[in-house]
Amino acid sequence: MKVTVVSRSGREIVEGGIELKDSATVADLQEAIHKQTKKHPSRQRLTLPVQPGSKEKPVVLNYKKSLNDYTSGKSETLTVTFKDLGPQVSYRTLFFFEYLGPLLLYPVFYYFPVVYQYFGYKGERVIHPVQTYALYYWCFHYVKRILETFFVHRFSHATSPISNVFRNCVYYCTFGSYIAYYVNHPLYTPVSDLQIKIGFGFGILCQISNFYCHIILRNLRGPAGEGGCQIPRGFLFNIVTCANYTTEIYQWLGFNIATQTIVGYIFLAVGTFTMTNWALAKHSHLKKLFDGKEGRPRYPRRWVILPPFL
Ligand SMILES: NC(=O)c1ccc[n+]([C@@H]2O[C@H](COP(=O)([O-])OP(=O)(O)OC[C@H]3O[C@@H](n4cnc5c(N)ncnc54)[C@H](OP(=O)(O)O)[C@@H]3O)[C@@H](O)[C@H]2O)c1
Repeated sequence: MKVTVVSRSGREIVEGGIELKDSATVADLQEAIHKQTKKHPSRQRLTLPVQPGSKEKPVVLNYKKSLNDYTSGKSETLTVTFKDLGPQVSYRTLFFFEYLGPLLLYPVFYYFPVVYQYFGYKGERVIHPVQTYALYYWCFHYVKRILETFFVHRFSHATSPISNVFRNCVYYCTFGSYIAYYVNHPLYTPVSDLQIKIGFGFGILCQISNFYCHIILRNLRGPAGEGGCQIPRGFLFNIVTCANYTTEIYQWLGFNIATQTIVGYIFLAVGTFTMTNWALAKHSHLKKLFDGKEGRPRYPRRWVILPPFL
């Protein structure tokens, strides 16, 4: 089979095209493109060409499929559109680095009060128990996320652009440092004991629930991440589509009830906004996928992320 590889503007990427066996897969094609262009398969996005001006979404070639699947076995030639996604990293690498920053930075403000001298606070610092609990809570959260990244999540997307590592690290390191700065500040005033207990108690309960939600999501796929997108069921997923985000938001609410800083609440608001957008997209994707037609199950009635509002 002869494959013509063109850019989105129609320019030929591999001059004269690529000759492959009739039984070749998309992965074979990606390897052949790699040899010719030095662009690793992880950064190649191959789609079927669409008519100029068409609003249709192009079909993305699945590396596991045979090229014949895209010609319906009728044609000896195939044209594919190539897009270079740029340097990529695995999702595990992305998540590891974005969580490592806040995990390392937060304790600096707790263990090294000398930091505050640079900001003009010369006096002795007395550590309140809530500041110690907040340190444990924070570190527990990010260690949990790193462990889940390596041992629980079964990702479907292999890679993410390397630029996302820098963007996400800046986001987490900036918020992490700001929150640590205020919670460990020499002039920090704790809230009442009861409020601290309620905040951390509720937060820990939500962190454990969040872990359980991740176990449920893990069990929707096989060990190699196969199985696609399924309807999550059981525990809080019977009520809300993105129960993992719901419990994530509530566990930050618990932290903020106990520590009460403005920047902590801003972090909660930004995270809630981001996760709400993702949850809306996931909810509508699941509803579209499980539409109850042609033998497919119908997606059950559920809240999206924050019952009883959304
Ligand atoms: N504080 C914050 O700002 C913030 C922001 C985002 C996330 N988080 C935390 O980090 C965790 C992970 O985030 P995430 O965005 O990766 O979560 P996610 O997309 O909801 O899912 C976590 C894992 O479950 C899989 N999964 C989700 N829905 C599935 C379905 N219907 N069928 C099969 N597999 C499914 C995902 O696969 P795919 O690889 O296909 O997606 C992914 O591997 C969150 O649950 C949350 O606790 C925190």
